[in-house]
Amino acid sequence: QAIYLRNYQAPEFALDAIDLTFELDPQATKVSAEIQVRALGENRCLVLDGQDLTLLSLAIDGRPLDADEYQYQNDQLTLLNVPSAFCLSTQVEINPQANSALEGLYLSNALYCTQCEAEGFRRISFFLDRPDVLSRFTTKLIADPQHAPILLANGNPIAQGTLADGRHWVQWQDPFPKPCYLFALVAGDLVCIQDTFVTQSGRSVDLQIWVEAENQHKCAHAMRSLKAAMRWDEEVYGREYDLDIYMIVAVNDFNMGAMENKGLNIFNSACALADPQTTTDLGFQRVESVIAHEYFHNWSGNRVTCRDWFQLSLKEGFTVYRDQAFSADMNFAGVQRIEEVTMLRSAQFAEDASPTAHPVRPDHYMEINNFYTLTVYEKGAEIVRMLANLLGPQAFRQACDLYFTRFDGQAVTVEDFVACMEEISQRDLSQFMRWYHQAGTPHVQVQGQYCPQTASYRLDFQQATPDTPGQTNKQPLLIPITMGLLDAQGRPLPLKLKLASGEIQALGLQGVLELTQAQQSFEFIGLEELTEAPIPSLLRGFSAPVKLSFPYTPTQLATLMAQDTDAFNRWDAGQRLALDTLMPLIDAQVTQIDLAQDAPMLLEAYRALLTEAEHTQDQAMLASMLRLPSFAYLAEQYACIPVEAIEQVRQAMRFALARTFYPQWKALYQAQISQQAYAPEATQIAQRSLKNLCLDYLLALAAVPEYQQEVYQIALTQWRTSDNMTDARAALTLLAHAPDASWGRDPLAEFAQRWQQDALTMDQWFSIQATRPYADTLQQVQNLLQHPNFSLKNPNKVRALIGAFAQQNPLAFHQISGAGYAWLADQVIELNGFNPQIAARLVIPLTRWQRYQDTRQTLMRAQLERIQAQANLSADVYEIVTKALQV
Ligand code: ARG
Ligand code: ZN
Repeated sequence: QAIYLRNYQAPEFALDAIDLTFELDPQATKVSAEIQVRALGENRCLVLDGQDLTLLSLAIDGRPLDADEYQYQNDQLTLLNVPSAFCLSTQVEINPQANSALEGLYLSNALYCTQCEAEGFRRISFFLDRPDVLSRFTTKLIADPQHAPILLANGNPIAQGTLADGRHWVQWQDPFPKPCYLFALVAGDLVCIQDTFVTQSGRSVDLQIWVEAENQHKCAHAMRSLKAAMRWDEEVYGREYDLDIYMIVAVNDFNMGAMENKGLNIFNSACALADPQTTTDLGFQRVESVIAHEYFHNWSGNRVTCRDWFQLSLKEGFTVYRDQAFSADMNFAGVQRIEEVTMLRSAQFAEDASPTAHPVRPDHYMEINNFYTLTVYEKGAEIVRMLANLLGPQAFRQACDLYFTRFDGQAVTVEDFVACMEEISQRDLSQFMRWYHQAGTPHVQVQGQYCPQTASYRLDFQQATPDTPGQTNKQPLLIPITMGLLDAQGRPLPLKLKLASGEIQALGLQGVLELTQAQQSFEFIGLEELTEAPIPSLLRGFSAPVKLSFPYTPTQLATLMAQDTDAFNRWDAGQRLALDTLMPLIDAQVTQIDLAQDAPMLLEAYRALLTEAEHTQDQAMLASMLRLPSFAYLAEQYACIPVEAIEQVRQAMRFALARTFYPQWKALYQAQISQQAYAPEATQIAQRSLKNLCLDYLLALAAVPEYQQEVYQIALTQWRTSDNMTDARAALTLLAHAPDASWGRDPLAEFAQRWQQDALTMDQWFSIQATRPYADTLQQVQNLLQHPNFSLKNPNKVRALIGAFAQQNPLAFHQISGAGYAWLADQVIELNGFNPQIAARLVIPLTRWQRYQDTRQTLMRAQLERIQAQANLSADVYEIVTKALQV
């Protein structure tokens, strides 16, 4: 059942052009295709992909085929003895309304839309559904003008008209050859927000965002983001848009975030729509980055595409790297990086350590949809970032130029990409390629040796990558370690590296050590000024996706926190200090913390941060520094995750800090209250994040009689008076999650009352309730499944309620009775019946069973086995569940 990279074979036929006609009907859409076929070799047996298609007719050069000239079975149409070049006419019928998998052509509310990546086009028409077959597409859409007044497809509209029976039609032509996974159509009753963009070279592009009428007021941010992204790609990569029109459509039912179809992006409405009343700052930032991501795909993905799906990270890793760089330029770069790393270290590292661990370029798969993962996307982006840093900005840009020019219009591989980097930099990157092949998170252990006699300091590195399912004996990687040295007062020291040749290399105040061996040492000399060991600042900016350890003393960490020149490492020193403080308390399962006794250095660090807080210009950084490590990040530190103890100690620490610094939190909170009208821009976002962090600490005291009234009132006031969802949601979440549930009851009801018509906003209401950190939340979540606003058919709702419960509510999901697991399995089984992609995503938390204690392991495995025993299990769910039970 699995497909292997090593079995790749080039296509034997070219499909130079395809002319499609859709007669749209909810239950019986007719799709006619005229395909120009050309044999590339001797083979005259053409095998096309086609799934769930009702075949109406087939003809070659106009001659209808007899039944013995073809076969349609097992999702393949086989045509025997075809000519060397011909026109193939096919006609099929499909049922968009019955398509609940949301792959191929489906209906979202009354809107026709498509999702073809990775292999959805075969559910629309017979074709060679593989990314290395590029064709020119023409698409004619015919529909009832009442139901579908707007008819959109890739490229430019070239003709339109009305038929005798009253139906209207529009024909679109895409001048760029493309693989069929980039095909798209949309038809329905939509309104359009328009703008124009003038490219670098002076061409004017029509920008259109199409939405249902009630969402018209939520498009401004997407449009602004699109224009910023277009400008940015011109300035930073020299890439210009290539069609006269760029369309974005927002739909409610969508399996993923968005899709980069040529000239016609289709978006999950959650990643396109935003307005201050209903969207949080995080939501605004997500829209900005997803809009940019899909736009950037026009070059990294569409103009240059993937040879096969094993190369997925070629376009996704690269494009995520590009969208991250864009977001860093639009927001505060330091905090942007902190957020990327936080996600990578808590979620991607967890994937690396799980039964579904896989390399950034997998070498086999059963269902490709299961490989749209954090590893392929986020770790893939880290690999490109390492390349960019190894080459430096100029050479990296040149190498990207070379890649885009050389491979324009082609379907290529990761090797082709890295070869451009090699060619420009004149470096051999063969060892670097292991980053693409080896799964798992490398561990780097570092020790320092200070020698006052020789005024030198030696760093000894050891690297190792753990075994992952099906992969053992990993080879050493090329790991770039960006670093500096500080003296005990935190002043940066000039780096003089002694090379093996005896030569001395002056690196300035920061250098990059290239680790290539399993064990390797680097010696710095000329440290005559020092009286004690220097403090190494390692892995600045998170220069490689590894777990790095160094035996820092708490004092060294405090110095790094306060003094390091690298914002990321200042923050990370704080994280290390917090981990070093919290983990022993977790191991001891304490329920109360005396800061002076249990956490003296952390206490001093918070005191220092809060003292300078009044004067800070950098609220974004301060908010990051004051935030305790998340549950997920703490959990990642344990082979066996002590669920209750982590949550208990996190809450105890939050409580202790809240109480010790109550006046400071309150003053800082008040200092962030602003009279400015809401705008989703970086400075305001930073201010709100700091304000809401303070609020979080204040509410930690909600159970203490002397503070109770005051802190609830502060939250309630914010809830009532805020003019934006960021502040409203922060306050509501704290009220709803507070120990005394009665405070949250009315606000939750008010919220539902006010937003019941707004699907995306109600999703937030479901999430807030699904993440209440108490065991009885399961009962409430079960009730919410029956809520009139909930629907299992809508992936956003599934993620908001079921996904949030299983992934962001450890106490309730992992309750020792196993009820959380059984309930999740029930939902997976139900979803498997109509949306396998979503079902396969939802089951992931159960696959992490190895990380919990015995009782939980047994309960989680039992649910996996129950799922595995279902009849009609989809390939998607089967692949994941089987892997999870095999290890
Ligand atoms: N290429 C899209 C993006 O990252 C993702 C689409 C994946 N969809 C899927 N059903 N596998 O922008
Ligand atoms: Zn993408």
